[in-house]
Amino acid sequence: MTTATQTNADLLQRRQQAIPRGPFNVAPIFADKARGALLWDVEGKEYIDFCGGIGVLNVGHNHPRVVEAIKAQADRFIHTCFHVAMYEEYVRLAERLNELAPIAGARKTAFFNSGAEAGENAVKISRAFTKRTGVVAFERGFHGRTLLGMTLTGKVKPYAAGFGPFAPDVYHLPYEPFFTLPGERSDADVERACNEALEHLFAYHVDAENTACVIVEPVLGEGGFLPLHCVAMRVLRDTCTKHGIVFVSDEVQTGFGRCGALFACQRYDIQPDMIAMAKSLGGGTVLSGVTARADIMDAPQVGGIGGTYGGNPLSCAAANAVLDIMADEDLPGRARAIGEKVMAAMKTWESRHAHVRRARGLGAMCAIEIVDPATGKPDAARAGVVCRKALEGGLLLMTASGNVLRTLMPLVITDAQLDRALGIFGNAVEAAG
Ligand SMILES: Cc1ncc(COP(=O)(O)O)c(C=O)c1O
Repeated sequence: MTTATQTNADLLQRRQQAIPRGPFNVAPIFADKARGALLWDVEGKEYIDFCGGIGVLNVGHNHPRVVEAIKAQADRFIHTCFHVAMYEEYVRLAERLNELAPIAGARKTAFFNSGAEAGENAVKISRAFTKRTGVVAFERGFHGRTLLGMTLTGKVKPYAAGFGPFAPDVYHLPYEPFFTLPGERSDADVERACNEALEHLFAYHVDAENTACVIVEPVLGEGGFLPLHCVAMRVLRDTCTKHGIVFVSDEVQTGFGRCGALFACQRYDIQPDMIAMAKSLGGGTVLSGVTARADIMDAPQVGGIGGTYGGNPLSCAAANAVLDIMADEDLPGRARAIGEKVMAAMKTWESRHAHVRRARGLGAMCAIEIVDPATGKPDAARAGVVCRKALEGGLLLMTASGNVLRTLMPLVITDAQLDRALGIFGNAVEAAG
């Protein structure tokens, strides 16, 4: 419970005493309450939230329909474990995701807890189906902090340094040229370079015929909000089809309307074989899932996948409400409208400031890079200044990959809140010049 005497500074001191430094913190504030796109700290200061619990709150903080669904479920039962006594909410959510997933043929879905677990299970299920062991991921990709999650993740610091040895038989493709921005290379050049990278990987690192899956984020999340080039997406799809490899779209951060469609891969008109999902699926509750072709999902033996809490009743109830809200409030459409406004602002900042580069976005998943204007090199310290200035102005903002400023606002943000937030953001960018 909060009391009138609590301050951010006092709580920060207690946090530092009681909790290790490992879990990073975006801002030195403690939440008191949150609604929609707004959050108030324990000192009563109001913030517009451009982080959304790191992409978890596409339907907004405490959406009334999510709260109602959780309360109603809590009144009935909180936990049975799906392996012990099943419940309809889990089945209904799976049916709905099977219906919505852009995957050819009959589909099935299983639920887990975190995004990392969704990735882990995507790999397990792909291996069981293909009877192969190799796994291909991307440099700069992020798939979580478990042993396999950090092995899949294509960045050493801070995610993997000091935590090895890692899981075997995981290989990384270079992020360039797959994540080239439109216009930076010709389509033909992207196609040639992507094919060359794949040929190199399959010639020198892992046999294509022993590769179980390729896992890719349609837009790199923690890796810097770079969208996969549309030609690269097609090359990956064709390569997986050619070699019988399961093509996994990690939509943990990109999914549930963020990119202007329920799943970001739909913006590419490409069908993956499997989708790993989490974050905004649960509307703030703990939930992840894997949806894939039914024959792939049925490959693991009985008891081979699951977990005590996977698809717990409160989360399934919340997620069913999330899917209703997505449709009724057209949040994917709202993401496209938000994205247009944000991109217009970001392009203006890019044209005005030498320290702002490469404004880009897919739907409401938008970003700019902050660089040292003298050298053009990534400038994480300067990006940190932008975040601090934004916080002072009442905007919760966070980076990705050090120097990239990203937007993960709830999609229920009002136009007035968005305009106010972009004003604060623009002033902070200018002040860091
Ligand atoms: C694309 C992607 N995959 C997986 C994860 C890991 O999710 P979690 O932190 O829930 O384990 C994240 C988290 O940011 C993510 O962005």
